[in-house]
Amino acid sequence: MADLFDLSGRNAVITGAANGIGRAIALGMARRGADVAICDLDKEGLQSALADLTVLGRRGLAVRCDVEQPEQIARFFAEIDANLGGVDVLVNNVGHVARSKPEELSLDRWNWVLATGATASFLCAQEAGRRMIRSGRGGSIINISSIAGATALGRGNLSHSVNKGAIHQLTRELAVEWAKYGIRVNAILPCQVRTEGFQSWLDSPDFDPALMDRFLAGIPMNRLAVPEDMVGPALFLASDASAMVTGTLLPVDGGNLALNAGGSHTW
Ligand SMILES: NC(=O)c1ccc[n+]([C@@H]2O[C@H](COP(=O)([O-])OP(=O)(O)OC[C@H]3O[C@@H](n4cnc5c(N)ncnc54)[C@H](O)[C@@H]3O)[C@@H](O)[C@H]2O)c1
Repeated sequence: MADLFDLSGRNAVITGAANGIGRAIALGMARRGADVAICDLDKEGLQSALADLTVLGRRGLAVRCDVEQPEQIARFFAEIDANLGGVDVLVNNVGHVARSKPEELSLDRWNWVLATGATASFLCAQEAGRRMIRSGRGGSIINISSIAGATALGRGNLSHSVNKGAIHQLTRELAVEWAKYGIRVNAILPCQVRTEGFQSWLDSPDFDPALMDRFLAGIPMNRLAVPEDMVGPALFLASDASAMVTGTLLPVDGGNLALNAGGSHTW
């Protein structure tokens, strides 16, 4: 039987892949045979991620691109055309949290979360989708969302939750519109993930250690996720293993949503 998870001969594009979840997914896809294009703001992180990708014998492209800037997204995809020649998989991974009490949240911070999240995901999906339609081969688009898009988290997560909720509807609408082209669109909803950035918040004086107990009380698997936990689900959604799966919101949350334990009403 063919390896359903094989990505040989496919080009995967991952935004925000210099660090964290995006980097783990980019490496996971390269290990399964994909050539990989990544973008980020972090130049050093891009170079070290590119080195990890090319060591695996894959073609790689690393571009400094701010997904908040539509013209930089267009330039990133033009570079992909010139260097890799097409897009088979897109992972929309960049996402920010601007924690603030709703009554204190500024319009600038609200706009920034949506611009780098739902709007950038739409623009990248549009660039990728046009190429997938033109190629006639279809493709797979994966939006990295959060349990925050499916349940209220409280504790200053208003703009984050609204952004991820919009990404859920982006996922469903595109899945419906583009099924006829063989383009599948799905989302992954992680719980808290111990990325380097998240770990530095856990280690900072701002972090109330009691909050860790509340996180864990909401995760039946009784641990936070790590970036590598997102790799298997992303490979599944990118590959032929999920050929009939589109429009799904896949929690990768140790049972958090099953417990209906998204957040807490106290800070
Ligand atoms: N870490 C978590 O606990 C967690 C939980 C649920 C969902 N998520 C989601 O996972 C995704 C990745 O999060 P992460 O924790 O791995 O983040 P991270 O900060 O570790 O990595 C994000 C990467 O995106 C890059 N980036 C930021 N702004 C950018 C921009 N404007 N243009 C291009 N690149 C940019 C950063 O430089 C960084 O390399 C996000 O969408 C986030 O909402 C994370």
